Formats: sequence, structure tokens, C-alpha cells
Amino acid sequence: MITDYSERLIVQEVSPRDGLQIEPTWVETIDKIALIDQLSLAGFSRIEAGSFVSPKAIPALRDGEQVFKGITRQPGVIYVALIPNLKGAQRALACTADELNLVMSASQTHNLANMRMRCEDSLAAFGEIVHFVQGSKVRLNASIATTFGCPFEGKIDEDRVLQIVEAYQELGIQGITLADTTGMANPRQVERLVRRVQQQVSPADLTLHFHNTRGLGLCNVLAAYEAGARRFDAALGGLGGCPFAPGASGNICTEDLVNLCDEVGIPTGIDLPLLLKLSRGLPALLGHEVPGQLAKAGRNCDLHPVP
Ligand code: COA
Ligand code: ZN
Repeated sequence: MITDYSERLIVQEVSPRDGLQIEPTWVETIDKIALIDQLSLAGFSRIEAGSFVSPKAIPALRDGEQVFKGITRQPGVIYVALIPNLKGAQRALACTADELNLVMSASQTHNLANMRMRCEDSLAAFGEIVHFVQGSKVRLNASIATTFGCPFEGKIDEDRVLQIVEAYQELGIQGITLADTTGMANPRQVERLVRRVQQQVSPADLTLHFHNTRGLGLCNVLAAYEAGARRFDAALGGLGGCPFAPGASGNICTEDLVNLCDEVGIPTGIDLPLLLKLSRGLPALLGHEVPGQLAKAGRNCDLHPVP
């Protein structure tokens, strides 16, 4: 039972989107729906349930419409769809996604690889989307991919990130995600940037999206949390990655994150035994082992019989 909500760490579960987008094996629509329906019972307030992007770019998520229409929506859960352009917004609204997550990279090179557009064109598309959704109840969030480093360009100027935050806000977009697309962030950098961004964005509107590519994912979470951030993306099993970023690998693992929070006393409201059960079902669904560690090791309290 959570009593102090200012301490609460909010996890947005992104395995149905970031997790599945890079999987080489097709996951049946019915299995995607079953996974999301189970995740909906685990205590998440937000689930990124899919994307509405070009089916040629991300064939693994080409069934976004059927997924959004097929899931059983739980009250209190916000179902988010990632979109790159106006067409994506139209598709997402047609199946009543609760929130649109618009994505652009801080790096011009990664944006060209991922979205086949220059950043200016992405921003122009976001303007069209904001205009299009006016009058609807849908929420808007915008992500800055490669915030903490780009696999093509290397370091990203922090002032550039701040300028993009400002550009998003000028468009009227409230939610902001800082995304570490290929796990290049380090805790000191995270703390510094979170403090700067929080001068413009409140903790209720700021999400951190870390990948564990270099093993620093959970260190970065703690650094961001200590700096005041409260919302984090994570994927069951540590799945995930951007197919258009060389060397990309999984998101921080949800059950590893929730375990960390449980152990240090940060409330999340998430049902860890249920997550472990779901995570242990992933290898059968996907045909390979997954990176998450807790599902293999068990929780600290899962003791072994004395030999
Ligand atoms: N949903 C479905 N189809 C879309 C679409 C969308 N949101 N946006 C464009 N398309 C279709 C067009 O209708 C067109 O179809 P056609 O070939 O049958 O005529 C085709 O895709 C090409 O459209 P175009 O506008 O020229 O897009 P593009 O080829 O320049 O690609 C994006 C631009 C943004 C659509 C594509 O790069 C993309 O979807 N990227 C997302 C990548 C991603 O999800 N990365 C991981 C998450 S960060
Ligand atoms: Zn990601």
C-alpha cells in the first residue's frame, strides 16, 4: 500500500512496443493482446501498447490496429501509441489510443535513419499532429531519441536537447521523454541533464527511457530519481531496441527495476510475482532467452532449500 506518492516511481511498460519492434520472429496478434492484457493487471498506470509507423519500417508491429482494438482496457491504465507522423496519429486515434508518443532524435543522422526525415520535417509533422488532435481527449508526449548520445554522431550537445524540449513545449506538447536509444548515458550526465530539463518540465510530465546496452541502465535510473525524475520506461524481460540504431539492445528490464525499487524502498505499486511469471513465459513466445536477470535469479526473498 503506497502512502507517499511523491516518492512513487512510475513505470511505463514498453515491451509491447519497444520490446517487440526488434524481434525477428513474428508474434501473433492474439499473443500480443494476451501479453498486454496480463500486463494491464500488474499495476502499471501506463503501457505503450504498439506503434503506428510504416509497416515496411517495423513489420513486427504492423497489426497495431487489431492489437489496440483487441485488448481489454483496464480503468486507470493509459494505453500509449508511438507515432512518427500525421498518418500515424490518424491511425492511433481511429483505435482510440489514450496517448500519442511522437518521436524525433536529437541527432539529425539518427532521425534520417529512423524516420527518414530531417529533424525540421519531424517537427513540422508534429505541428500537423497537434493541430489534428485539437478537440480530442488524446494526450501528447514527445520523445527525444539519442538524448544522451548517438551511435552515428557521438555526444549530443545538452543545449540542443533543451532547445528541443522548448520546441515541443511551444507546439503545446506537455509530456517529454528523454530517450537513451543505445545505452550511452552515464549517471553523472543523467543527473545533470535531468536537473536542467526539470527547470522547464515538471516531474509529472518527464519520462526517462533507458536502454541497458552498456550495463548502466539501472544506475541511470537511480541517478535520475535522485535528481527528481519519477517516470521511467522499462520493458518486461529487458526486451527492446531500435532497429535503425546500430548496436541497439534491450530496454532496462521492468522486473529488475521493480526489484531494485522494492529492495531500496521506492514504491511502484507493481506486482513483481506477476511480472516474473510473465517474463518467464517470454522465451517460449519469442524463441530465445531474454536479458532480464531477476527472472533467472529470483527475488532476494525467494530462498532455496538447505542442502
Ligand atoms: N503508418 C502506416 N503507413 C505509413 C505511415 C504510418 N504512420 N507513414 C507512412 N506510411 C506509408 C505511406 O503511406 C507509404 O505507403 P506506400 O508505399 O504504400 O505508398 C509509405 O509508408 C512511405 O511513406 P513516406 O511518407 O514516403 O514514408 P518514408 O518511407 O519516408 O518513411 C516513416 C517515413 C516515418 C513513415 C518511416 O520511416 C517510419 O515509419 N519510421 C518509424 C521507425 C520506428 O518505428 N522506429 C522505432 C521507434 S523509435
Ligand atoms: Zn527505446
